[in-house]
Amino acid sequence: MAQIKVASLQKSYKTGKLVTPVLRGIDFVVKESEFISIVGPSGSGKSTLLYVLSGLESYDQGEVYMFDQLLTDYNDHQKAKLRSQDIGFVFQFYNLMPNLTAYENVLLASVLGSQKSKKEVLDILEIVGMKDYKDYYPSQLSGGMQQRVAIARCLINDPKIIFADEPIGNLDYANGIKIMELFKTLNQTYHKTILMVTHNIESTSYGTRTLHMLDGKVIDDEKKSQ
Ligand SMILES: Nc1ncnc2c1ncn2[C@@H]1O[C@H](COP(=O)(O)OP(=O)(O)O)[C@@H](O)[C@H]1O
Ligand SMILES: [Mg+2]
Repeated sequence: MAQIKVASLQKSYKTGKLVTPVLRGIDFVVKESEFISIVGPSGSGKSTLLYVLSGLESYDQGEVYMFDQLLTDYNDHQKAKLRSQDIGFVFQFYNLMPNLTAYENVLLASVLGSQKSKKEVLDILEIVGMKDYKDYYPSQLSGGMQQRVAIARCLINDPKIIFADEPIGNLDYANGIKIMELFKTLNQTYHKTILMVTHNIESTSYGTRTLHMLDGKVIDDEKKSQ
């Protein structure tokens, strides 16, 4: 089943009279349980594409279907549910609340969905290997550990799709590999669909498909034979 369908998608940013085309006619379909790496030079529109798909940014032309419904037909309530429950977002710099513990960061995210029990939060922290650090504050954790907590936070409402924008861009090699292994597990064992922007060509080997972007277009769509 197609979870995402993008057709002739176009978007420009307008600053005063200056119009910068950022997405210039994009087409692709994402099926359940795909693990897609999005690569391309800085400024090619990768982040903008993820923001449009997640409803954080509007678009100008074309069509975007999320779960078979046109994004422009989503009402405010549906958009809020899309963002808080149907998809999860992982950022390069983790974006954890500094004054909350690992446990509290994950619990807080569940309040936006349907609040989870202590056991459910601990189970998710266990999946990402952070249960023993539940009472630590972000400043007491390494970058790799903070990213694990951020991934737990994105998992707590059991999203169908995970968007990750350069999730290992700030990590050293060894921690980057561990996070990529975790994404692979989430894809293969928990059947999460993943769209991950990456600068690291090696990390595309964890995915099932790679979209190459250049100047707001997808110039290559490479599916791995499995
Ligand atoms: N909020 C914004 N306002 C104006 N221009 C933007 C904005 N966000 C991104 N851009 C421009 O859009 C282009 C694509 O940006 P982005 O999607 O962040 O690319 P990437 O993630 O591939 O590096 C860049 O030229 C960037 O300067
Ligand atoms: Mg970017």
